[in-house]
Amino acid sequence: MLDQLLNRAENTGDLSLEEIEQLLNLEDQSDIDSLFACAYRVKTRYVGRIAWFRGIIEFSNICSKDCYYCGIRRSNSKTQRFTIPEADIIESAVWAWKAEYGSVVLQSGERSDPAYIDMVERLIKEIKERTNGELGLTISLGEQSEETYQRWFDAGAHRYLLRIETSNPELYAKLHPADHSFENRVECLRRLRKVGYQTGTGVMIGLPMQTTRHLAEDLLFFKRMDIDMIGMGPYIFHSDTPLIGYRAEWEIPAKKLLNLGLKMIALARLLMRDINIAATTALQALEHDGREQGLLAGANVIMPNATDTQYREAYQLYENKPCTDENASMCRGCLQRRIEKIGEQIGFGQWGDSPHFAGRVKSSGL
Ligand code: 5AD
Ligand code: FES
Repeated sequence: MLDQLLNRAENTGDLSLEEIEQLLNLEDQSDIDSLFACAYRVKTRYVGRIAWFRGIIEFSNICSKDCYYCGIRRSNSKTQRFTIPEADIIESAVWAWKAEYGSVVLQSGERSDPAYIDMVERLIKEIKERTNGELGLTISLGEQSEETYQRWFDAGAHRYLLRIETSNPELYAKLHPADHSFENRVECLRRLRKVGYQTGTGVMIGLPMQTTRHLAEDLLFFKRMDIDMIGMGPYIFHSDTPLIGYRAEWEIPAKKLLNLGLKMIALARLLMRDINIAATTALQALEHDGREQGLLAGANVIMPNATDTQYREAYQLYENKPCTDENASMCRGCLQRRIEKIGEQIGFGQWGDSPHFAGRVKSSGL
C-alpha cells in the first residue's frame, strides 16, 4: 500500500489531501524512512545533491506586531531591543560574500515607518555595491505595501520570504491579535510575485490547536500559490509569550516534532519537486543534526547564521536557539563538515535560485 502510494507520488507529484494526511500520520519508523528516501530520490533528480547556503543576518528585533507565539513581539518587555548599525550589517554581508556564501537573507522584526524603509533600501544598495552585484539578496521583512516591495526590489533584492504561518484562517486568527490580517498576508504573497521576487513562504509545525489536516492543507496551499521557496520549521514554545499557557496540553515531544517537521519537508519535495526548501535552524534546536536530517528528507537550502555574535542572544524568536555563542566563521566550518559527511556538496559562490522560478519566468515570457 505505502510502496504504491510513494511510487505514484515519486512519478507524478500528485497526492490528495487525504493521502498527504495519511503520510503525515505515519508512525512506523521504517515507513517514515521510506518516505524520506523517496523524497530524497526526487530531490536528487530535480535539484541535485547540493546544499545552498544563505547567510542569515538578523539585524533588528524591534517589531511593531504582536504575534502570540513570537519572542520578539512588541509586548514582550523582557527582550532587549537592538538594531545593528548599518555599517556592521554591511560588514556581515561582505564577510558572507568573501566566505563564498552565494547569498544572504536580511531579516528583522516588522516595521513600516519611512525611516526604516529608507534604511533597508540603503542597506540593499550598499550591499550590492560592496559585493560587485555578486551576492544574492533575500529579504524577510514582513508585510509591506506594493510600493515598498517595489522600492526594495529596484534597490537589488530579488527573493522574499514571508511565512503564511498557517494557511488556515481560523487557526491564524487564534495565533494573532485581531488587527493582524490573514487576507492581507496572502495578498502580500501575491504582491511579491507581481513585483517579480522569487517568493518563499512557510508555516510553523506543531502549533497549539494545529492538526495534521491543517498541515496537509498548508502543503496544498503552497502548491496552489505556486511558490518558489519554502522555509518551515517546528514551533517552539517561548516562556514570555501568551501561547505558553497551551504548553502543557499541546507540546509535542522533541523526537516526534522533529519527525513531523521532516515529513513536511519530504511531502513538500514530493509535491513541488523543483522548488528550494530550507532545512531551518529550528530543526537543529530539536536535535543537534536536525538540519542534516532535513537535507536527507528533501531540503536543499541551509541558512547559517551570519549575524554578529554579540547580537544573537537578543534575537530569540524561540528559546534555546542553537549557535547563539558561535561566531560566523565557526558556523561556516561546522556546517561544511556536517554536510560533507552526508555526501552532499555545498553550492559555494552561487545564488542557487530555484529551478522552479526559472521555469515560471520562462513560461510567462518575462
Ligand atoms: N518557534 C518557532 N518559530 C517561530 N517563529 C516565530 N516564533 C517562533 C517560535 N516560537 C518563526 C515565524 C516567523 C519566523 C521568522 O520565525 O514563523 O515567520
Ligand atoms: Fe513580530 Fe509577529 S511578532 S512579526
